[in-house]
Amino acid sequence: MRNGFAVFFAVVVALGGSWLGFVVAPTVQLGKAKQALILNSTDTWPQQRTGEATLGLQVYRANGCAACHTEQIRQDGVAAEVTLIALNKTKPEDFKAFVQSLFILPELAKVTNTLAATLNGWKGDLPTTILVTDDKAVADAMSDRLKAAGVKSETHIVATGEDIPRWGIRRSVAADFLYDFPVQLGNLRVGPDLADVGARLPDANWQLQHLYAPTLSVTNSAMPSFKFLFDVRKIGSAPSPDALNLPKQFAPADGYEVVPKLEAKELVAYLLSLRADAPLYEAPFSPITSAKP
Ligand code: HEC
Repeated sequence: MRNGFAVFFAVVVALGGSWLGFVVAPTVQLGKAKQALILNSTDTWPQQRTGEATLGLQVYRANGCAACHTEQIRQDGVAAEVTLIALNKTKPEDFKAFVQSLFILPELAKVTNTLAATLNGWKGDLPTTILVTDDKAVADAMSDRLKAAGVKSETHIVATGEDIPRWGIRRSVAADFLYDFPVQLGNLRVGPDLADVGARLPDANWQLQHLYAPTLSVTNSAMPSFKFLFDVRKIGSAPSPDALNLPKQFAPADGYEVVPKLEAKELVAYLLSLRADAPLYEAPFSPITSAKP
């Protein structure tokens, strides 16, 4: 064993290096993570999931949902959005003319094209977003002018990026996963990102139907059916209140009903608990009045 020490040293470096990298470094970075404060509020984020939803995480894990779904919304940056709240005495037509008169201002030069396009399609409905820009100074200049003209507007900070707003309104941050074990980040997006699915699709019945027969809600869905999370059973003296309301081609034979098993209910409780919709210091946005109906 002339090389005994060298081998020993190599083993220590290899094992010790991985231990430092995979155990110590993450613990130092995130080990002391605690609830974050929600911006402009005294509430903390996130709240512990309910017991049912915590069990649902294990159903999610056991069924390999993370093979096709991620739980991490990405974001490129933030933009400032100027939203018109009230015109007061100004008429929409006069307002358009007023904004056009601002086009000569050097500070608005960059955005005159977008402004013109927005105004073109605008019929006077309020509130409406007239300007979205990544330059806060431009948004401030615009809102100063509006204020001077007696028009009421609000400037909001919104997240930008491909995932936004189709999958969420801000990026996912470490705090979102504080109570999850193991965290189901996922890395393949065969289906949509689910980090905010509880806010996007809050209807438990829709979720159950979709798990039972994905093609029922989305024709040609590539998602497999999770029928085994449901019981098909004979209707007793009265139909069960839990029974799924299915259209004819998905319904079981006459006299039978489809009832979610405990796992399906837990899974749906987990899905509905998935939210990334509180503004945090590290992922700020200000709630918008106009973007969502
Ligand atoms: C083989 C890949 C695959 C697997 C596994 C899978 N899904 Fe999906 N999922 C999809 C696809 C594709 C869609 C988009 C089409 C649709 O809505 O059916 C989708 C859509 C969804 C949606 C609707 C999301 C939205 O924003 O419209 C939810 C909720 C969902 N899946 C939950 C789950 C759960 C829970 C599991 C595990 C029990 C799971 N999925 C397993 C592929 C998959």
